[in-house]
Amino acid sequence: SVIVLDFGAQYNQLIARRVREADVFCEVLPGDTKASVIQDRAPRAVVLSGGPASVFEPGAPGMDPEIFSLGIPVLGICYGMQLMAHMLGGRVVAAQGREYGRTLMHKTQDSPLLAGVADPSTVWMSHGDQVMAPPPGFAVLAETSNTPIAAMADPNRNFWAVQYHPEVHHTEDGFKVFTNFLYQIAGITPDWKPDNVIASAVEEIRQAVGDGRALIALSGGVDSAVAGALAKEAIGSRLTAVLIDHGLLRAGEVEEVQAAFRDIDLQVVDAKAEFFSALGGVTDPEQKRKIIGREFIRAFERVQSLVGTREVLIQGTVYPDVIESGGRGAHTIKSHHNVGGLPEDIAFRVVEPLRWLFKDEVRRVGEALGLPEALVWRQPFPGPGLAVRIVGTVDEEKVGVLRQADAIVREEIYRAGLDRAIWQAFAVLLDIRSVGVMGDARTYGYPIVIRAVESLDGMTADWVRLDHNLLDRMASRIVGEVAGVNRVVYDITSKPPGTIEWE
Ligand code: XMP
Repeated sequence: SVIVLDFGAQYNQLIARRVREADVFCEVLPGDTKASVIQDRAPRAVVLSGGPASVFEPGAPGMDPEIFSLGIPVLGICYGMQLMAHMLGGRVVAAQGREYGRTLMHKTQDSPLLAGVADPSTVWMSHGDQVMAPPPGFAVLAETSNTPIAAMADPNRNFWAVQYHPEVHHTEDGFKVFTNFLYQIAGITPDWKPDNVIASAVEEIRQAVGDGRALIALSGGVDSAVAGALAKEAIGSRLTAVLIDHGLLRAGEVEEVQAAFRDIDLQVVDAKAEFFSALGGVTDPEQKRKIIGREFIRAFERVQSLVGTREVLIQGTVYPDVIESGGRGAHTIKSHHNVGGLPEDIAFRVVEPLRWLFKDEVRRVGEALGLPEALVWRQPFPGPGLAVRIVGTVDEEKVGVLRQADAIVREEIYRAGLDRAIWQAFAVLLDIRSVGVMGDARTYGYPIVIRAVESLDGMTADWVRLDHNLLDRMASRIVGEVAGVNRVVYDITSKPPGTIEWE
C-alpha cells in the first residue's frame, strides 16, 4: 500500500484518488505521523502532500525525519517537496510573489519520474516558497521560467519531488507521474481493483459477524446499498436489511431498494404517519432536522423489537467521512449520516466495509456487484429527505407535489445524458402561492424551484448553465403534469453564498 501524509492541502484527497485510480491502495495519514507507525503498516511508498503553510512559519507542519531513513520511496508534492528540501539540507526561500496556475515545464534531464511526460508540458503550480538549491545528492529534473527546480530527485535514496500539482486535471501528463512513481520507481503491482476490494470486504464482514447475524439500515442511497450488497454476498440470509420509509424519499426509491434486495430479509418500516404527524406545522429547518433525527431513532427502536437481536450493524461510512473525523477506522455512528442518526446507546458492533473507499470506488464496487444503475449512480440526497426541500410546513400533499416535480427534473436530466456530469439536480417546493392562468382560468398554485449544481465534494458548488430548451421542457412538463404547480423558477446561486439545499 501507499501512505499519503497530509500537510493540509486542499488537494490531498485528490492525491489519494489518483493513487487509487492507478489501482493501488492508499491511506491518508496526518503529516506528523510517527515513522514507527508508518513502518508498522509496511507501505511500499510514501507521498508527501502539498499544504498551505510555509516551512519557515512557526508551527508549520513538519514530519518525522526518521521517515527518510525507512528505505521507502518518497514522493514530495509542492509543500511536500519544500519540506523534503528543507529537512534534507537544501535551500528553500520565501517567494517574492505567488506562482499560481498554468505554467510550461521543461525537462533538464531524463528521469524515470518524468518518463513519458511531454517536454515541454503544461503543469499547474500553486506555491509561495520555492526550492532554490536541492539537498546534497539530488539532481534537478525540470524547470519552469519562474521555478528553477520544478522537479528533483535523489534516485539512490529513492526520494522524488515535484513543485507542481500532478494530481490536478489541468496538469498535462500528471497521472503519468503517479504511475511512474508507483509502478516503475516503487515497483508496486496495481491490484486495487473492484474484485479484490469485494473479496477483502466480504472476508472482513464474515470475520466480524462470525456465526451471528447482522443488520443494515438502508437509506435509499448508494453507500448503504453497496454496503448491503457486500453484506449480502458475505452472510446471505443472516443479514436483515431495514428501510425506514419516512415518506420523504424520492419517487421510486423504496421500490428500487426492494427490487435490489428482494432475495434477503428486507423489512420496510412504514413510519410515514409518525413522521408527518411530528413534522406538522413546523417551518424551522433545524427543527425539521431534529424531529426527523428523533423519529428515525424511534422507528429504529421499533425495528429492534421487530427483528430481535443482531450482533453487528453494517454501516456505509465512506473514506472521506473517516478522514474528516480524523479517525482511522473510526467506529462511531455519525449523527449526520444518511441513515439519519441512529441511537447512540445501541449495543451493536459496527462494521464499515466501505470505510476505505472513495465515492467513485463505492460506485465501481456497486456496479461489479450487479446493483442497478439507477441505484449505483444516484446523486447525493440529504438524510432528512424531501422535508428540507419544502420551504415551509411539510405535509403529505406537498411532498406528493414535490416528488412528482422532482421526478420530472431528474428524468429530463437523465434523458439529456447529464445525470452523471451534474452533482445534483432536483426540485424544491416553496410553500407560497402565486397567480397564473391556464386555459381561460385563473390559477393560484405553488412555485417549483429547479436547482442543478456542479461540485466536486458538495463544499463549494456552481449552478449549471443548463440549456434553455431543457429548462423549458422541464418547466412545461412540471406545470402541465403536476397538479397544484403553476410556476417554475431556476436557481442561479452558487455556493457560497447559497447552499446547495434550500434548508
Ligand atoms: P448544503 O445544502 O449544505 O449541502 O450546501 C451540501 C451537501 O450535503 C447534502 N446535505 C445533507 N446530507 N444529511 C445528509 O446526509 C443532511 O441533513 C444534509 N443536508 C445537506 C446536500 O444534499 C449536498 O449534497
